[in-house]
Amino acid sequence: MIDPYGREITYLRVSVTDRCDFRCVYCMSEDMTFLPKRDILSLEELERLCGAFIRKGVRRLRLTGGEPLVRRNVMNLIGALGRHIADGNLDELTLTTNGSQLARFADQLYASGVRRINVSLDTLDADRFKAITRWGRLEQVLGGIEAAKQAGIRVKINTVALKGVNEGEFDRFVNWCGAEGFDWTLIETMPLGDIDGDRTDQYLPLDGVRERLGERWTLTESGYRTGGPARYADVAETGGRIGFITPMSHNFCESCNRVRLTCTGTLYMCLGQEDAADLRAPLRESAEDDLIEAAIDRAIGRKPKGHDFVIDRAGRKPAVARHMSVTGG
Ligand code: GTP
Ligand code: 5AD
Ligand code: SF4
Repeated sequence: MIDPYGREITYLRVSVTDRCDFRCVYCMSEDMTFLPKRDILSLEELERLCGAFIRKGVRRLRLTGGEPLVRRNVMNLIGALGRHIADGNLDELTLTTNGSQLARFADQLYASGVRRINVSLDTLDADRFKAITRWGRLEQVLGGIEAAKQAGIRVKINTVALKGVNEGEFDRFVNWCGAEGFDWTLIETMPLGDIDGDRTDQYLPLDGVRERLGERWTLTESGYRTGGPARYADVAETGGRIGFITPMSHNFCESCNRVRLTCTGTLYMCLGQEDAADLRAPLRESAEDDLIEAAIDRAIGRKPKGHDFVIDRAGRKPAVARHMSVTGG
């Protein structure tokens, strides 16, 4: 699949549920309204859509949410998708998770072909963790991460850089991730969806953060690439890596290789745009996949050049109304 700007689309992110067992303050409001259950595709329907994308040339698939592991019976879907890996039709099956359920699922994930996961973790302080997630327990997440490591799954930690919240912990993250053998990625906060507070004040451009980290650690540009948007630096002292995801300060849209499917069968061609294509109607209209594949082709044909994110200091409205949990980041 080639889009109008010549970018090859080989990566699909699937948000299997918009629900989550946490309510991170920068991501959701406390009294979130979730999608009505009747609109949610079954796991079999999601599997069928993923199969169509794989036939169209998708080589990497990432399940996200909300929290993907809170969707009932999600391991059935993961197991089914893992068969595409075993058959050689898919190069990678991964997850982005908050880690809360990992202790329970780590071994099954490995058995389904998952070899790498990204765990969202914004602080290593238990009280601050509770304050950010509203009710999460840090210990549970650390236990989940340890279980994944023991199961043989490589872990990347994702930390949203939040001014005045976690910026004092970055050196601690470098030390901890280095010692544990985890990659660590910092992310600039994006203006998606209404939250209770004001995220304008939390935006921390990563250029300055990188400079400060460079005063303490010996950082050198890394050749390491995952096919994701992060630009990595090697840390000489720990042997680890730090990734920087900078959608706001330096966007990476030019090399975009991905599209996003929601749990209602809506395909978003860009995280930072409202334009979407409905795949649920063609999915349900026919038992053959021709209609789905034609709808995918039409959607890729109108993938936009880049996102619409701006930090709106005056209006203080999110640039994109839907929450990150609908499209899964
Ligand atoms: P790998 O590089 O494969 O490990 O994955 P990733 O970093 O792309 O995925 P992950 O789910 O860990 O995403 C980390 C952050 O990057 C999330 O906050 C995403 O929203 C953000 N991100 C991923 N892809 C894009 C993109 O295409 N555009 C923008 N603006 N942000 C993205
Ligand atoms: N901006 C940046 N990252 C966000 N995430 C959730 N909301 C936002 C936002 N507004 C992160 C989560 C997770 C990833 C999928 O997206 O922390 O790491
Ligand atoms: Fe849940 Fe992730 Fe959003 Fe936190 S950032 S509320 S863990 S979806």
